[in-house]
Amino acid sequence: VRRIGVFTSGGDAPGMNAAIRSVVRTCLHMGIECIGVRRGYHGLINGDFVPLTFESVSGLSRRGGTMLYSARSEDFKAKLGQEKAAATCKLLGLDALVGIGGDGTFRGLLCLAQQGLSVIGIPGTIDNDIACSTYTIGYDTACNTAVECIDKLRDTMQSHERCSVVEVMGHHAGHLALNVGVACGATAVLVPERTPDYEQDVIEPIRRARLGGRTHFMVIVAEGVDSAYNVAQKIKDATSLDTRVTVLGHVQRGGAPTSRDRTAATYMGYEAVRLLAEGKTCRVVAMQGDAYVDYDITEALAMQKGLDEQTYTVMRALTGVQ
Ligand code: F6P
Repeated sequence: VRRIGVFTSGGDAPGMNAAIRSVVRTCLHMGIECIGVRRGYHGLINGDFVPLTFESVSGLSRRGGTMLYSARSEDFKAKLGQEKAAATCKLLGLDALVGIGGDGTFRGLLCLAQQGLSVIGIPGTIDNDIACSTYTIGYDTACNTAVECIDKLRDTMQSHERCSVVEVMGHHAGHLALNVGVACGATAVLVPERTPDYEQDVIEPIRRARLGGRTHFMVIVAEGVDSAYNVAQKIKDATSLDTRVTVLGHVQRGGAPTSRDRTAATYMGYEAVRLLAEGKTCRVVAMQGDAYVDYDITEALAMQKGLDEQTYTVMRALTGVQ
């Protein structure tokens, strides 16, 4: 491998910059040139690139967002877009690509592999919804950001004796909501992996908490299960509590990455380049527990990731759900 292209695609995640830095510096360490492709697949189609040097990625680990910008490209879904992207790689002399993102990013990499490129994926998403990996870059920072916001909300909910209903991101997955709910000591947590029984999962825990002397309540709703406004209305109808809705939204994607995200991103960036240097292709770098491993992209995309059963059991025990 002589020249590698690196890009970020899909929703950005804190730690993507640390992964870019790691890819660039590992490349240089191994005598490989590294080119940054801006705006994900959109940039590949349009030849939007920037040469990356040791200095150009200096101080990047602690920065949120992605210096290479990110995008969700509609054009790349069509064969013509994929051919144009492959043509850009040919023009720039890129013989390999490292894509940082989620499942959509990995599917795109497979299309480019069919055009003869060597490709490696790195899981970067706050949703932690990549089946082959127990961890994705950005998840820890997003959890911490959400917890910090919810702690602040709790202060005002307590003062006014209200019920806070907080909508947390996660796309179709409930990992973020579940983890945040446990960390915040929520009254109830709703996740898309379990069809909610509102009476049992939300109203009864609120009633029990009230009987125990509590005067404010915190309900966490994963965006994939229902709108927080609907849930708040149901709570109000059943209990007459004064409810307030907060949709945390994109604040969860911002901020300086935590130590965990910086470290995971740095290892994954290193692994991606190491795999390419060893002649490997069509792999996703992943974590299993504390170990860094890699999977064939097609196999990785076919895998399913369920909710963490232990955490779910603990959440139910602590919220008093029967
Ligand atoms: O995949 C990351 C994510 O933040 C999801 O949690 C959310 O559903 C989605 O992206 C939002 O996408 P956008 O930034 O395009 O609104």
